[in-house]
Amino acid sequence: MKLRYFSHSSFQITTDSGLVLLIDPFLDDNPTSPVTSEEVTADFIVLTHGHGDHLGDGFKIAARTDPLFICVNELANYCSEKGFRAHNMHIGGSYGFDFGSLKFTIAHHGSMTPDNRYAGEPAGVVLSIDGKTIYHTGDTGLFYDMKLIGEMTPLDYMLVPIGDNFTMGITDAVKAVELANPNIAIPMHYNTFPVIEADPQEFKQGVESIGKQAVVLEFGEELVL
Ligand code: NI
Ligand code: MN
Repeated sequence: MKLRYFSHSSFQITTDSGLVLLIDPFLDDNPTSPVTSEEVTADFIVLTHGHGDHLGDGFKIAARTDPLFICVNELANYCSEKGFRAHNMHIGGSYGFDFGSLKFTIAHHGSMTPDNRYAGEPAGVVLSIDGKTIYHTGDTGLFYDMKLIGEMTPLDYMLVPIGDNFTMGITDAVKAVELANPNIAIPMHYNTFPVIEADPQEFKQGVESIGKQAVVLEFGEELVL
């Protein structure tokens, strides 16, 4: 499996069998994204919540590539109403897809669509793909149940927001890594806008100071997992 980071909370996963998942594809209006929505394709689009910097270019990409949206119920209904294919789920539930399994977790945040519709609860996702597990927390503050999430699914990778203001900042993000206990933590949701400027190396040092490992991905970098 390959994991490519487009910046912000936007990732592309390519499975060993060649399936492509996009998570929170915020590209065209994202000043830090190295790719545009025209340059990506998707078999699945996973949305953690309805905010514009997460729904992003989902519909633009879907109009061209007909992926299956995977979201919590209210947001999945919104995708269906827009004419796209969607799989409705909700927090605590997991389901097996062609790429592997996906489980939605809690996240402490808000969730509205860009046209101000309630989009259900915001979420994180735990993915089990090609024998590895990845926890994308979505936008969230720190919460103690991250420990439970890591206990129920031992985590290989954890994608953690560090930009502060709308989500955890670095201090809380390091604590989140301690609680969820992944093998490797990867920072996200930083340096997209001035209000969420953060130094990912400071996060990496913090994670290393608690005896854990972090990898800082360049915007556009791809990692083989
Ligand atoms: Ni948000
Ligand atoms: Mn956000």
